[in-house]
Amino acid sequence: MPRISVVTGSASGIGKATRELLIERGEIVIGVDVHDADVVVDLSTAAGRASLVEQVSELSGGSIDAVLAVAGLASPTATTVAVNYFGTIATLEGLRPLLLRSAAPRAVAVASMASLFPPDDILLAALLAGNEADALARASELEAGGAEQGALIYGTTKRALARWIRRNAATDAWAGASIPLNAIAPGVVDTPMTSDMIATPQQREAMATMVPMPLNGIFEPRSVAYLLAWLAGEENAHLCGQVIFIDGGSDVIIRGDATW
Ligand SMILES: NC(=O)c1ccc[n+]([C@@H]2O[C@H](COP(=O)([O-])OP(=O)(O)OC[C@H]3O[C@@H](n4cnc5c(N)ncnc54)[C@H](O)[C@@H]3O)[C@@H](O)[C@H]2O)c1
Repeated sequence: MPRISVVTGSASGIGKATRELLIERGEIVIGVDVHDADVVVDLSTAAGRASLVEQVSELSGGSIDAVLAVAGLASPTATTVAVNYFGTIATLEGLRPLLLRSAAPRAVAVASMASLFPPDDILLAALLAGNEADALARASELEAGGAEQGALIYGTTKRALARWIRRNAATDAWAGASIPLNAIAPGVVDTPMTSDMIATPQQREAMATMVPMPLNGIFEPRSVAYLLAWLAGEENAHLCGQVIFIDGGSDVIIRGDATW
């Protein structure tokens, strides 16, 4: 029986590359996105999140093998908070019951190396408290506060998501149900999300200063897809709550020895 994987953000970039790779490998993929997908839903809304679960339940017959929560936004807006944090968690929690009948269930989310950048502490606290109304209100304040403040939103959502993964992976709901729950933290990947930020040599140089990637520099989404496919596959049986940096070295340079 081929594995059934659900990939959010499947219409573009990393999600699209992952969907294509899994299909090449003979899996059944249920793609989820706001457009051009098997399941078209808006993960920034409660209605879209509920519809995700309903539609995936119907299409899969009630059982899936993997959830790959890839969908995300990088704009300095409140919607980024709704999609990157609350949409991703709703995807993982909403689809978790469908994983329980799989012989090898797996779940993986996409954070970012931007999780290493200083966060906005007020937004971070609202996210970790699971308070969407407060988080959206704070993000709107940051957005209105200008470019520097708005720029804090993305990294803060990804830091909170990485923490959520760490806090939940070892619980009864995930490890206790034999579901490895992990995340990845990519560096700069050449996708429609970043194309406007890395279009010119000057922009690429500025990006390299902010996100140093001595190992092979900016890379293609296919490389990320290989890692996601492994994390979502049967071979990954014992990784629990890991946030794996696939970032050409930015984590090593920014954090150095600080991890231990
Ligand atoms: N590209 C990078 O350099 C990079 C680096 C680190 C992390 N990431 C993360 O990787 C993930 C994929 O990013 P990408 O670079 O492939 O971007 P992308 O813009 O190419 O693809 C993102 C996809 O998410 C979908 N999406 C956005 N809002 C949605 C919503 N409300 N409901 C459903 N789907 C929605 C988009 O329609 C799009 O198809 C994101 O979570 C992003 O934050 C990307």
